[in-house]
Amino acid sequence: MLQKIEISSIDQIDRQAADQAASALELGKVVLFPQLAFPLAAGERRIISQDNATSDSKNISFNPQDATLKGSTLPVRDQNELIDLLTRFGDFAEALVCAIAPQYRSGLARMRTSFRPVEIAGRNYSWRKDDRRRHVDAFPSSPTQGARILRVFANVDQHETPRTWRVGPDFETYAKAFLPKTTRQLPGLAGLMALTGITKSRRSLYDQIMLGLHDAAKRDLTWQAATPAEEIGFLPGHIWMAYTDQVPHSVLSGRNALEQTFIVSRNVLQRPEQSPAAIISRLRGVDCLPG
Ligand code: SIN
Ligand code: FE
Repeated sequence: MLQKIEISSIDQIDRQAADQAASALELGKVVLFPQLAFPLAAGERRIISQDNATSDSKNISFNPQDATLKGSTLPVRDQNELIDLLTRFGDFAEALVCAIAPQYRSGLARMRTSFRPVEIAGRNYSWRKDDRRRHVDAFPSSPTQGARILRVFANVDQHETPRTWRVGPDFETYAKAFLPKTTRQLPGLAGLMALTGITKSRRSLYDQIMLGLHDAAKRDLTWQAATPAEEIGFLPGHIWMAYTDQVPHSVLSGRNALEQTFIVSRNVLQRPEQSPAAIISRLRGVDCLPG
């Protein structure tokens, strides 16, 4: 479930490396660039090495659409420096995605950029927020209606701490295990949630099923323990990306990561037949995408 691409700058991505990375992504693999570090300036290193998140939030996030930073207790001057860093990482991640899959450019929306300072191991989370349990990503308040969730990560820890993930099984195996446990949405609820602002747009059947697949897996500790996974240690300096709505993943340990989320429109995918929506529709025998 891991595809390594050995390049040391985005300019080195030729046609062959791009095709290899884009196909691996759409087939549900994690694509790792072990040599492609995202360099930090001295001031940025100082910000990363201080005590960074508020006690109730695990991440600090920057929303490029309205230029707001959430979850930080840093003094204003440092917050501005952090915003610059997150913007620079967002630009880097966008350039990387566009180099790998130029056809995504017309269907790519840049969402939040996050800084994840807090050590994952040993914290307490509610089961639904516990990313130490394997899951596929789905957003309760931001339905995608079949568009895809692509995430780019960098480990920027200054002390050689790896960020450890477990990935697997493939999406179809995962979906077969949990589709029977997903529940139907009450008639009228999708419209009501959109109208009252609980969701930013209408929660489609696809979104409802994806949330169900997220929750059912996190709830099932027997499945979590019994189902084999591949463990990957992402070292400081590593850059990696994945369609996290397709690759079952958990994070076991690590601190100080940067992350950029993109929403990718379905109509720019190279292999739409491999997407979660196509697999769910096939397994269910109904089209789960909005018409
Ligand atoms: C997740 O998406 O489950 C968390 C990944 C991470 O923070 O490394
Ligand atoms: Fe996740």
